[in-house]
Amino acid sequence: MQYDVTVIGSGPGGYVAAIRCAQLGFKTAIVEKYNTLGGTCLNVGCIPSKALLDSSEHFHNAEHTFKTHGIDINKPKVNFGQMISRKDDVVKQTCDGIDFLMKKNKIDVHHGFGSFVDKNTIKITAADGKESQIQSEKIIIATGSKPSSLPFIKIDKKRVITSTEALALKEVPKHLVIIGGGVIGLELGSVYARLGAKVSVVEFLDRIIPGMDGTMSKELTKSLKKLGFDFYLKHKVTGVEAKGKNVKVIAETPKGESLELDGDYCLVSIGRRPYTEGLGLENIGIATDKGGRIETDEHLRTSVSNIYAIGDVVKGAMLAHKAEEEGTLVAEQMAGQKPHINYNLIPGVVYTWPEVAAVGQTEEQLKEAGTDYKVGSFPFKALGRARASMDVDGLVKVLADKNTDEILGIHIIGARAADMIASGVTAMEFRASAEDVSRMSHAHPTYMEAVKEACLAATEARPIHI
Ligand code: FAD
Ligand code: NAI
Repeated sequence: MQYDVTVIGSGPGGYVAAIRCAQLGFKTAIVEKYNTLGGTCLNVGCIPSKALLDSSEHFHNAEHTFKTHGIDINKPKVNFGQMISRKDDVVKQTCDGIDFLMKKNKIDVHHGFGSFVDKNTIKITAADGKESQIQSEKIIIATGSKPSSLPFIKIDKKRVITSTEALALKEVPKHLVIIGGGVIGLELGSVYARLGAKVSVVEFLDRIIPGMDGTMSKELTKSLKKLGFDFYLKHKVTGVEAKGKNVKVIAETPKGESLELDGDYCLVSIGRRPYTEGLGLENIGIATDKGGRIETDEHLRTSVSNIYAIGDVVKGAMLAHKAEEEGTLVAEQMAGQKPHINYNLIPGVVYTWPEVAAVGQTEEQLKEAGTDYKVGSFPFKALGRARASMDVDGLVKVLADKNTDEILGIHIIGARAADMIASGVTAMEFRASAEDVSRMSHAHPTYMEAVKEACLAATEARPIHI
């Protein structure tokens, strides 16, 4: 078969690239090694984790907040099998949706492992070992990422697990020890803490979610401690031993002493690495950098001019929406258009409760760059809407240029932060000043009023409701 464009990998980067290519009139194929489409995000990432986060949040509320709301129920019980099976249904519906989109856009789907024979030929090895080849004028590599580990840790997938296994356990852990206080550790730790597990997080650095603004780390630490999390910051893991149904995690404390944590499961969530194994990059002379990422220019073109790479397999945030934007960008470039991605405005979200969401620069980044900035913040507890729903934890922090008032960063921890951040992206995309946003009417009562108030606080320090 001969195609204009072939995409290797059907995650959010790959399937979006394929759809956009088809929309632009290219004869398009997609190659996926698994039986289902959708990649990490739909199968073992964004979607299943959010399904379990939502279910566990309902349970948590039934146990802890219904009574105050005036709803008396018998003590709720977790039906974990049902929770996992609902999650599986959600994943199936979502993956089936991608099948439908491929058919709708007349994209040929080839199930099998893709590898380069030469710069225009891809060998596809099906699960039964059968091999075939397709030809393509242009190729987009969207092979994503896999969980990272440490050399001395053996991931047995039973007791020492990655996020993939943590999303499909057969029981709620009694004590889940998590290595890495980043997004995966805190999201999946929240699921199991709400369902009754003791959760301990061992983090190498001095704070959790270290890539985000320091205020967010501080506030989230407080909220998760209330949920029962134990944090071991500045601890260096030195060993993980699994024996029968038990796991021992050994770490060096900041004082150089040894700490032993005994659990029944250990989740290793210390980041992800780009996945290019078996792709045959060496056959076409495409290099990877020290972190294993495929090197590209700013147009996401590799050193081979008809081959592009997008998503988790290239530099930048490992996020589904970043991969999607890159898929669209590459397709449109191939059609002669001149698209652009503002990487500074790719939002980041942590789906704990309260949620954390951010766009633009952190205060730490502004300090390091020597930018003259000002801060305006507003706590959720001063919002009528937050009191009505009892979601009073959190705040909005707006960072603006001290001289021009342009918004440089918005950081939200609180209920529905994930959805609120889109308006921050809009404001910053149009280079709004804090005063611009503070003068826009925000519906009352809404959580978004906290953003308006934080902008008022940044503008001449004049919030109204505090
Ligand atoms: P992937 O989604 O990894 O897809 C790559 C695809 O390529 C896979 O299907 C793989 O099987 C296939 N493939 C690889 N090599 C070959 C080959 N040689 N031949 C054929 N097929 C191949 N991001 C968010 O933005 N929001 C979230 O809430 C979020 N939650 C997450 C939760 C978890 C637990 C995890 C693990 C990740 C989460 N992410 C989230 C990150 C998100 O999943 C990734 O950033 C995103 O999936 C990257 O998309 P991608 O298309 O680059 O690669
Ligand atoms: P992460 O990069 O978010 O966090 C890893 C954490 O592990 C960091 O805090 C780091 O300091 C710590 N760490 C690293 N080495 C360590 C060691 N040896 N001992 C102890 N701690 C150590 O990575 P994570 O959580 O694995 O997630 C991978 C990626 O998946 C994320 O970066 C994100 O891009 C994506 N993701 C996004 C989500 C979202 O958007 N809501 C949800 C889940 C994952």
